[in-house]
Amino acid sequence: MKAFLIQEFVSNPSTIKPSNVPTPAPNPDQYIIRIIHCSPQHADILHAQGKHQNNNRKKGWCFPPFILGYDFAGVVQTTPSNGSSSRLKKGDRVFGAAIGAFAECICVSESAIRRIPDRLSNETACAMSGQAVSYAAVVNIAKVRKEDTVLVSGASGGLGSVCCMVAKVLGAKVIALAGDETKAGHMRRDMGVDHVVVENDGWIEQVLDITGGQGVDVVLDNTGMVNDAIRCLAYFGRIVILGFAARKGVMEEVKMNKLLLKSATVVGYRFGESGRRYPDELQKIWDGYLGLLESGKLKPMLFRKYEGLDDMGRALGDLAERRVYGKIVVKVADVETSSKL
Ligand SMILES: NC(=O)c1ccc[n+]([C@@H]2O[C@H](COP(=O)([O-])OP(=O)(O)OC[C@H]3O[C@@H](n4cnc5c(N)ncnc54)[C@H](OP(=O)(O)O)[C@@H]3O)[C@@H](O)[C@H]2O)c1
Repeated sequence: MKAFLIQEFVSNPSTIKPSNVPTPAPNPDQYIIRIIHCSPQHADILHAQGKHQNNNRKKGWCFPPFILGYDFAGVVQTTPSNGSSSRLKKGDRVFGAAIGAFAECICVSESAIRRIPDRLSNETACAMSGQAVSYAAVVNIAKVRKEDTVLVSGASGGLGSVCCMVAKVLGAKVIALAGDETKAGHMRRDMGVDHVVVENDGWIEQVLDITGGQGVDVVLDNTGMVNDAIRCLAYFGRIVILGFAARKGVMEEVKMNKLLLKSATVVGYRFGESGRRYPDELQKIWDGYLGLLESGKLKPMLFRKYEGLDDMGRALGDLAERRVYGKIVVKVADVETSSKL
């Protein structure tokens, strides 16, 4: 099969080309999924560069040689051979997340995949599968209410754009932070947020002006800007740390007195680990998130068209160069489906 094989870490993942590799053999408890779409994200770039905590030689994760990629949607080709009672059957449409998704096939256990609801297309499921974290951060962790003003950093990105959309569904006022004016223009047109503020000199003053000097009630931080978030924050405000997309691996330091002075709450949220520890909660998160997608209240914001694994280099380049707003979905194979949204 064709796959995006990492033979050694690369500084520029957009230069990698797909190669032919042996089709993987499933363990007895694994499904083989034929991949129809896959979706690159920030972490894939770090994985390819060897800069992510998952690049772990001892555990064998993301250590060369490995196939890059995480989010995918596809069709069940074979079910587990160990006779375990599986919820899924051959031909079912599924989406999921597992290292090795930039390929024509992937072997996964049942915990890595979910059935795509009938009303959702494979493309939508693939684009949105990685952002249940955003739903959970807004609804369960920040507990956003309709009277809140919410600031989202990295708002053009996969997580950030869905944080904005979910907060809008809850009725909150949303301020989206954008990296440049070009992106901000697209975001003003397509995202339905209340304000898009470009991160240039004076952006914090703009946020304070928008809130009449009060500051925002909630910050959803996808880029690593807690110090700036505190400056934008209202008294008793809350900050949810989701990621560090802008930090290039160097973490910031925060003076604790700044938190005390605003009675601020800062909370980190690690979606994958939370789900492993609290599977019942995870199921509720997926039910709520998929419910919003099925009702059409949440819709993917797709960036450009990408066809075939040969186009993955261009996709990763666009992501690394910060050209993307919303999500990239790469179509890997042509398969007819009857879904609607
Ligand atoms: N907490 C969790 O469970 C969890 C789960 C998945 C991912 N994450 C993390 O969350 C963060 C966001 O992930 P994502 O998938 O939304 O990423 P993404 O789609 O690449 O979006 C990140 C956004 O951050 C902004 N940004 C600012 N400085 C940047 C820089 N130097 N390089 C790249 N982007 C920069 C970009 O917007 P502008 O150019 O407009 O500024 C970009 O749209 C990542 O750190 C990821 O590892 C956390």
